[in-house]
Amino acid sequence: MSVLKAAIIGGGHIADQNHLPALAKLPERVKAVSICSRDIHKAQALADKHGAPFAYDSPDEMYRSEGKPDIVINCTANNLHYPFTMQALENGCHVFCEKPPAMHPYEAREMADLAKKKGLTLAYNFQRRHAPEYTTLRKYHELGNLGDIYHIKANYLRRRGIPGWGNFTNKTIQGGGALIDLGVHILDMALGLTGYHHPTRIVANTYDFIGKTGGKGLKGAWNPATFEVEDACFAHLSFPGNVSIALSTSFALNMEQEEAINLEVFGTKGGAKLFPLSVHTEIAGELADIRFPHLSDIDTQLQNTTAFLDLCDGQSANICDGEQGAILQSIVEQIYQSAAIQ
Ligand SMILES: NC(=O)c1ccc[n+]([C@@H]2O[C@H](COP(=O)([O-])OP(=O)(O)OC[C@H]3O[C@@H](n4cnc5c(N)ncnc54)[C@H](O)[C@@H]3O)[C@@H](O)[C@H]2O)c1
Repeated sequence: MSVLKAAIIGGGHIADQNHLPALAKLPERVKAVSICSRDIHKAQALADKHGAPFAYDSPDEMYRSEGKPDIVINCTANNLHYPFTMQALENGCHVFCEKPPAMHPYEAREMADLAKKKGLTLAYNFQRRHAPEYTTLRKYHELGNLGDIYHIKANYLRRRGIPGWGNFTNKTIQGGGALIDLGVHILDMALGLTGYHHPTRIVANTYDFIGKTGGKGLKGAWNPATFEVEDACFAHLSFPGNVSIALSTSFALNMEQEEAINLEVFGTKGGAKLFPLSVHTEIAGELADIRFPHLSDIDTQLQNTTAFLDLCDGQSANICDGEQGAILQSIVEQIYQSAAIQ
């Protein structure tokens, strides 16, 4: 198997903390060759730090030169996922794109279609689906132990977690607030347990009271005057076969805990909750709770990067591919559309 050449576009936090360290752990499969960021000094500094031989301030130049990769990892802001992914695919590169897939469903659809047309791999970095609690739950469900899952409560909530840095409150760059930044992770996990279908109906509400009013920040201080996105979103999604997901996500909400990330799954034979994982069922005529105190410690980013490389090699892999990404992006848009109806 030849070592694939990888390029990072967007040299920020996720590139430095997640993707480049994961690539370094897979030297037999992949090597970071190029870093591209709009600030050449930042690109060069990151290339030096992670041992990549080439740095660029524009992908155009990268595709024409020695640093042309086999794989592009798109770590730019949300509004650049579509243009840089399309450009990479046009240049014959597989693309591992950060979440959310894009800003609009038509973009995610075009990205998936172009990848298919070119015979290239496109996948998204929903690395939380490799959490051992979640993969164990999926395996347990695949063994038939939960029966048919008919409802999931999916929460990704923060009490006062509006980031005081970056673009998180800028609608033009982010495309939205808590839903498109946090909620998409837990939505991906809930959809993975219910077959990743398009919903038949969505009813949703979004709010921005705390974001626009201001208050104590637990992730820095945000500016209420420039707060343009939702601070909380609650959605009810109905799927074919009378399956439903209740999705709740917030940057800011008057709740007890600072943060709550969890799924509650209800099936005909059993239910489950995570995080941590527990199963709730009947055994020998008695109500029983099963706990999993010995789950392995997993590097979720390493697992998702490996899954992406497996997909590039033509193997099946547990990863959000172009098709699933297009479904997820369409759901995000439908949630925002429903919430816009007052
Ligand atoms: N999977 C996860 O858990 C996770 C976590 C954090 C961020 N993310 C996603 O990663 C993406 C980036 O987030 P981040 O926290 O690294 O942001 P960041 O602001 O730290 O980094 C973005 C980088 O893109 C660069 N950039 C902007 N415009 C560019 C251009 N025209 N050409 C080249 N580079 C350009 C910026 O200079 C910056 O270095 C976002 O889409 C975010 O949603 C995912």
